[in-house]
Amino acid sequence: MRHLLSTQDISRDEAVRILDTAAQMAATQGREIKKLPTLRGRTVVNLFYEDSTRTRISFETAAKRLSADVINFSAKGSSVSKGESLKDTALTLQAMGADAVVCRHQASGAPHLLANAGWLDAAVVNAGDGMHQHPTQALLDAFTMRRHLATHLAGGAARPDDDVADGTDLAGLRVAIVGDVLHSRVARSNVHLLATLGAHVTLVAPPTLLPVGVQTWPCDVSFDLDATLRDVAPDAIMMLRVQRERMSGSGSGGGAFFPNPLEYTRKYGLDPRRLATLAPHAIVMHPGPMNRGLEISAEAADSPRSVIVEQVGNGVAVRMAVLYLLLSGDNSEGTTL
Ligand code: CP
Repeated sequence: MRHLLSTQDISRDEAVRILDTAAQMAATQGREIKKLPTLRGRTVVNLFYEDSTRTRISFETAAKRLSADVINFSAKGSSVSKGESLKDTALTLQAMGADAVVCRHQASGAPHLLANAGWLDAAVVNAGDGMHQHPTQALLDAFTMRRHLATHLAGGAARPDDDVADGTDLAGLRVAIVGDVLHSRVARSNVHLLATLGAHVTLVAPPTLLPVGVQTWPCDVSFDLDATLRDVAPDAIMMLRVQRERMSGSGSGGGAFFPNPLEYTRKYGLDPRRLATLAPHAIVMHPGPMNRGLEISAEAADSPRSVIVEQVGNGVAVRMAVLYLLLSGDNSEGTTL
């Protein structure tokens, strides 16, 4: 494993290996001394051209828990604002001796360019590029589903939720991903990873918030949330943020109009009535940040079946696993994920 750029490049075995490694990392986090010496002497650069709370902090935490040195680079306040190019920024990081570059960028494909242009020797991890991909978010979502739905995945056999056998995938799991699919790199990443792991995904969105070509994705598509909840009975429902900043009417000149909030919530919001129709074992997910009262009600976000805060915590274990697999020398296949 050389880089982590897209879930479309990850095989089932590679995904399971990352999830199994993350489970081992999570087990170390319950200990009094959480820090592992694994990446001592290595340097991880968080290169963030777009805002982030969860992803940036959890990559920093993950790298520090593996004893790596961490450099946080935010485009705001850097020489990027003076017009410095991605190439010259990359060459600067190369001169600093970066071993891994974790890149978030508003332009789809920027991490691929960093990985393939020959400017860097470092491993590149895509931390979210435009509307394209956010692979570690999908991995932490899969990790969370695997942990919470282990009993269900085992066919109902009694099994503690946290006792997930190594090597298991998500075969047969039903997942509904609901909302602004058009602008969502989380949806794109999840659809491909979940399909690879054997889950069945239904995307639910208004026609105006679905991308051209969605029919070719490995999932079903519905415009009707209530029908999906009734007919599919998902084991996990993942609500997507309505990305106002990428829509016209928000000053960005984006590709879709901001929907009427009341109508959107009525048709696509996870409100208490819809929450009550979920199967007893079903979990509620959201990648964050949430628009409470728009795509998800406070009752749903804070309900006992919500795993939204746990998703954030699981992000640390998954990112520890990714950095470990990229940097520890355990790169026998040398593949680009
Ligand atoms: N889920 C996610 O990517 O959140 P941040 O934008 O806060 O990193």
